Amino acid sequence: MALMEVALFFLRATTPYLLLLVFLLLSFLIYFYLPYWKVRRIPGPPAKFLVGHLPLLAEYGPDIMKFLAKNYGPIFRFHMGRQPLVMVADPELCREVGIKKFKQIKNRSSPTPTSGSAMHQQGLFLTRGSRWSFMRNTITSLYQPSHLSSLIPTMQSYVDLLLRNISNLEKKEEDIPFSELTLRMAIDIIGETAFGVHFGLSNEASFKQHIEERIDDEGDEEDEVSSFLKQHMRSINSLKMDLSSSFSTILGLLVPILQIPCRNILQLIQGTADYKVKQTNKKLCQKIDAIITKRSSERTKCSKDFLSVVLGARESGIGKELFTHNYIRALTYEQLLAGTKTTAFTLAMTVYLISKYADVERKLLQEIDGFGSSHLIPTAEDLNCRFPYLDQVVKETMRFVTVSPLVARETSQEVEIGGYVLPKGTWVWLALGALAKDPKQFPDPEVFRPERFDPNSDEEKRRNPYANIPFGIGPRACIGQKFALQEIKLALICLYRNYIFRHSAKMESPLELEYGLVLGFKRGVKIRAIKRML
Ligand code: HEM
Ligand SMILES: *[C@@H]1O[C@H](CO)[C@@H](O)[C@H](O)[C@H]1NC(C)=O
Ligand SMILES: *[C@@H]1O[C@H](CO)[C@@H](O)[C@H](O)[C@H]1NC(C)=O
Repeated sequence: MALMEVALFFLRATTPYLLLLVFLLLSFLIYFYLPYWKVRRIPGPPAKFLVGHLPLLAEYGPDIMKFLAKNYGPIFRFHMGRQPLVMVADPELCREVGIKKFKQIKNRSSPTPTSGSAMHQQGLFLTRGSRWSFMRNTITSLYQPSHLSSLIPTMQSYVDLLLRNISNLEKKEEDIPFSELTLRMAIDIIGETAFGVHFGLSNEASFKQHIEERIDDEGDEEDEVSSFLKQHMRSINSLKMDLSSSFSTILGLLVPILQIPCRNILQLIQGTADYKVKQTNKKLCQKIDAIITKRSSERTKCSKDFLSVVLGARESGIGKELFTHNYIRALTYEQLLAGTKTTAFTLAMTVYLISKYADVERKLLQEIDGFGSSHLIPTAEDLNCRFPYLDQVVKETMRFVTVSPLVARETSQEVEIGGYVLPKGTWVWLALGALAKDPKQFPDPEVFRPERFDPNSDEEKRRNPYANIPFGIGPRACIGQKFALQEIKLALICLYRNYIFRHSAKMESPLELEYGLVLGFKRGVKIRAIKRML
């Protein structure tokens, strides 16, 4: 009897708490599953509680999208923690998202590591709405053919430095840390063409040492440039999208509403990854500000580098409002972020692959030698029309290893894609990596064969024109595409006029890659150069 009473009393006392607990649990489940509920009809593999499909990404890397596309069809669900992504892996569906229904899908969703970070959010890549259109229109003029062709001499001068460096190492019969050299070259080229600044990495010996220095070792004596680049490399490396990144990023994947408050707290606590990211980005901002200040004072009416044009845009009415200091800083930083690692990776990957395929190398040398005297510098026009096989080699490299395998977009209204109604705010991502390995568009997709892009081949004629889109698609495609291709082709022509390359015995085989927002090398491409006797 007494026992009964005690139990009843206990129950009465705890009921409100139990109810509260149940209520909280239910709210959490609703919060957690709501995004999934809205796109539940779209097929996808079973998702784990909280982490969703992240374990698949950790295990298989971005290649996982290829397998999912094979099993679940051209449109499927992939859960980055709580957030479902609707992945599109088919040329016609990419055309719908990128071109036909662009009006409803103009914005990009922000990948977790960048959310809440002004330096990333305010660049062209992540700006939204009408601000994006205005910024894009202003910046587009810098990527017009007439402007790009005027950059050839600058690009060529850095290619010459690369060659000089290769020549030194070749004479000493040493390995060439090729992917590192291409990264230096790409950063130098952006420095000069976009900011009018000489970073001097292509002839400075201490770069490697600087970026590889221990993360928490500050060192005051180092010069401005190398410390800037060290911050830059750290900042890039902190943009990981998996479960190995900072705590707030991981939380952002699982319970996004807690990400920003949690980051704000962790950033105050020394020793956390968030603290380090914040410190790095703060320093980076200061360095970028210094570049901007310098350019503002030196720029003249005819300066046509990136920064001068953006600064100039502030002089007209609407530009004054839109190009505030923070936006200019983000745009400036973005040039380095978007324009260096991708281009350098592609160039290094091309040489890596050519060195593996003797037939490709032979055919390419023939075309390059046929162009004319080795002192003749190709014009932008020559690069576009006189090297059809080189074109095919670069295209095939970018298909074979797609440096930017995922492209983020977001719906601004309800829109139908591939037979499914996607509500407003759905994250629709283009799976460029899976698209590039689609056997319907690229027979034997795992075979490296530049000839598949020969304009006269059956394969090329039969292929959907939107199957090969390593730079994205539609009005929001990569703005730097022609810039990157010009740089890559110019470098390849000059390299192969003088040398052929073989893999170093010290390089791992197969080559290991690393996945952040874009692909990188785990240890780098190391090669030996062999001087050509002409
Ligand atoms: C091989 C080199 C490169 C590759 C593979 C690449 C790839 C891409 C891809 C796939 C996108 C997303 C496009 C889409 O949403 O459809 C993109 C966007 C972008 N890229 Fe590149 N890119 C490269 C080089 C560059 C360079 C050299 C620059 C600038 C100097 C650059 C600046 C940008 C910018 C600013 C965006 C955002 C455009 C917008 O949202 O309006 N990229 N890139
Ligand atoms: C994009 O996002 C902005 C701000 O979040 C919003 O105002 C706009 O309507 C969105 N959509 C389009 C098509 O611009
Ligand atoms: C070439 O690169 C190495 C580092 O990889 C550097 O030490 C050297 O100074 C460079 N040489 C030239 C001539 O640029």
